[in-house]
Amino acid sequence: MAVLVAYATAGGSTRGVAERIATGLEGCGTVELRNSTEVDSLRRYEALIIGSAIHNGQWLPAAAETVERLRAELEGRTVWAFSVSSVGATSTTLSPRLARYLRRATPEPKAVQDLRSVADVCDHRFFAGAITPGDWPGFGRIVFRLMGGHYGDARDWDDIDEWTGRIRTQLVENPM
Ligand SMILES: Cc1cc2nc3c(=O)[nH]c(=O)nc-3n(C[C@H](O)[C@H](O)[C@H](O)COP(=O)(O)O)c2cc1C
Repeated sequence: MAVLVAYATAGGSTRGVAERIATGLEGCGTVELRNSTEVDSLRRYEALIIGSAIHNGQWLPAAAETVERLRAELEGRTVWAFSVSSVGATSTTLSPRLARYLRRATPEPKAVQDLRSVADVCDHRFFAGAITPGDWPGFGRIVFRLMGGHYGDARDWDDIDEWTGRIRTQLVENPM
């Protein structure tokens, strides 16, 4: 089985998540890790895991464009999606209280909704990423502080591994 893990990143933390997922799927078949801009066809893959960093509530344009570009090939495919933002399902770079609210209130990014409209999306998960002082210039830095933001790497590797494990189980039990 050929599995593709595709990602879009601005600062690198999403790439780290994608690498971890790809490593966790080793042994399921041939696992390829690619920047989403490098994916020109899905023909040779049986399973796709695609994720993006979140900017302004949405996937990066590179990832959204990949979904759009591969729309015809995504039809009916089994896909897993992930988003890397300030607030993950189990960790955050913001205050815990604000994160609890945002987990309830944040809609899925539009690109994930688009993906759902064409492919069979088994799951979409939010992971927290990493943030450095240079990521939020000027006023953004003040807003980040007001949201109880703290700089650093909030990626929860156990949660990422657990999510990957569920994909792995599904691929092993229902090979495509
Ligand atoms: C310009 C900019 C906009 C961002 N917008 C959001 C946002 O709307 N919601 C959010 O939860 N996190 C937001 N973040 C935080 C990033 O999603 C987070 O830092 C993530 O780890 C970035 O992934 P990357 O390192 O792969 O680029 C933003 C970060 C930057 C730099």
